[in-house]
Amino acid sequence: MTNSEIVEKTRAHLEVKFNTESSGHDYWHMYRVWQLAKQIAKSEKDVDMFTLELTALLHDVADWKFHDGDEEAGPRAARKWLESLNVDNAVIEHVEDVIRNVSFKGANVETKLTTIEGRIVHDADKLDAIGAIGIGRTFAYGGAKGRPMHDPNISAIQHDSFEAYKNSNSPTINHFYEKLLLLKDRMFTKTGKQLAQHRHKVMEEFLEEFLSEWDGRC
Ligand code: ADP
Ligand code: NI
Repeated sequence: MTNSEIVEKTRAHLEVKFNTESSGHDYWHMYRVWQLAKQIAKSEKDVDMFTLELTALLHDVADWKFHDGDEEAGPRAARKWLESLNVDNAVIEHVEDVIRNVSFKGANVETKLTTIEGRIVHDADKLDAIGAIGIGRTFAYGGAKGRPMHDPNISAIQHDSFEAYKNSNSPTINHFYEKLLLLKDRMFTKTGKQLAQHRHKVMEEFLEEFLSEWDGRC
């Protein structure tokens, strides 16, 4: 099988598996991260496109958020899938490493990604977490987890550890302050930083409007 056939088989597998997912971690999130990653890669040097495309597509194949917090579920599922397609072990190890480290782990926790492929997938994934799509995904996630949209009596927290972030149950609006508004300053690539500016502004404007409507006063 050629590399492009492996990428296409992976895309098709995800399309079937995540077609009806309703928490914002659906096939179209994976598709957009794949497209954004290829776009960002155009302005970067020495990118291994095969690893990049596989990682972008597979980064949420078994997210810890939907597997009882099991951080190894993603790397394990990606390995199983790629081994079934006889992908080189070195490529699989790289994909596993990025999946392990790409997830946001708390406001005060540094993202440990050293390879260009990992950094591009990070920026593509975080771009899809902000802007209009990001707002939509966040409310879809909150609904899927049965959380209140907003509670003015519960303050946002800047988490110091992944454990604390993982166990947090805060209302959906707090997620903007605990993660989404921080993302523009955590981008690694030039393109990621540029694209994040406008999407950040869209969220700020949305929050201002949302909070002004919240208590029902005109
Ligand atoms: P990450 O790996 O950084 O968590 P994902 O691709 O898994 O990124 O998607 C994270 C998205 O899921 C967030 O941007 C948001 O839309 C949604 N999400 C995650 N946690 C929460 C939360 N506590 N409240 C609301 N939405 C959330
Ligand atoms: Ni993602």
